[in-house]
Amino acid sequence: MTSIVVVTGGASGIGAAICTELASRGYTVVVTDMDEAGAETVASGLPGAHARKLDVTRASTCQEVVSSIESDIGPIEAWVSNAGVSRMARFLDIDEKQYDFTLDVNLKGLFFSGQAAARVMAKRQSGCIVNIASMAGKQGRAPFLADYVASKFGAIGLTQAMAFELAPLGIRVNAVCPGFVATSMQVRELEWESSLRGTDPESVKRQWIADTPMGRLEQPQDVARVVAFLLSNDAGFVTGESIAVNGGAFMD
Ligand SMILES: NC(=O)c1ccc[n+]([C@@H]2O[C@H](COP(=O)([O-])OP(=O)(O)OC[C@H]3O[C@@H](n4cnc5c(N)ncnc54)[C@H](O)[C@@H]3O)[C@@H](O)[C@H]2O)c1
Repeated sequence: MTSIVVVTGGASGIGAAICTELASRGYTVVVTDMDEAGAETVASGLPGAHARKLDVTRASTCQEVVSSIESDIGPIEAWVSNAGVSRMARFLDIDEKQYDFTLDVNLKGLFFSGQAAARVMAKRQSGCIVNIASMAGKQGRAPFLADYVASKFGAIGLTQAMAFELAPLGIRVNAVCPGFVATSMQVRELEWESSLRGTDPESVKRQWIADTPMGRLEQPQDVARVVAFLLSNDAGFVTGESIAVNGGAFMD
């Protein structure tokens, strides 16, 4: 039997690339997303993959989906918390509703979906979790993204706390911090940032590339390969780490 990995937010962008990369490496992938049709579309293109609807903001739903995967498909050996949202606005303009929405998906989602996965992994004393954080989880110099920055700094702290408590239970937990990745989230951010700066999306994109020493936008596959590394035995003694994958756009 191949290893079962569950990916959240797998219907689009980085999540879909992670599903594709892991399927190509022989994992049985469970593509989850709140967009059920999107998850099914991704799964249908991958050998042996499954799809499940999962809104990561509901702790009880996370628990139910984990239970159903364990009983219908098999033991979950790896979990990738990738689902995330962003919305750009000036700090002075962000209201409570936007703040709650961002923190619910990007931080509460990681907390309770990771908890549900860790509970079943702990029984077997074996498992691996990867949280998708961001370059904006290591530096606050990310314009118009104060709520997102708060959520992603939280994701890195949570990754360390989970790694610390779960290491004795045989579970490794790490994070990946992407930079300027070409996905639908980026298309939305180019629109918002250009409108907030009074410029056009192409100019913002050129600036992001200029801010990246390796001279191009990041691709979802750049992130997916590092996730695969963290899940592999090559990273067998790595835990609590938050790996930058950003072409040098931010070095810490
Ligand atoms: N694109 C970037 O430049 C970039 C940079 C750094 C980090 N990230 C992070 O990478 C992750 C993926 O981003 P992306 O660029 O692929 O975005 P995307 O918008 O293309 O995909 C996000 C996916 O998450 C799903 N999702 C949203 N809310 C959900 C919820 N409550 N429950 C389950 N699924 C939900 C969406 O349906 C979508 O399929 C996010 O955590 C994001 O913060 C992205």
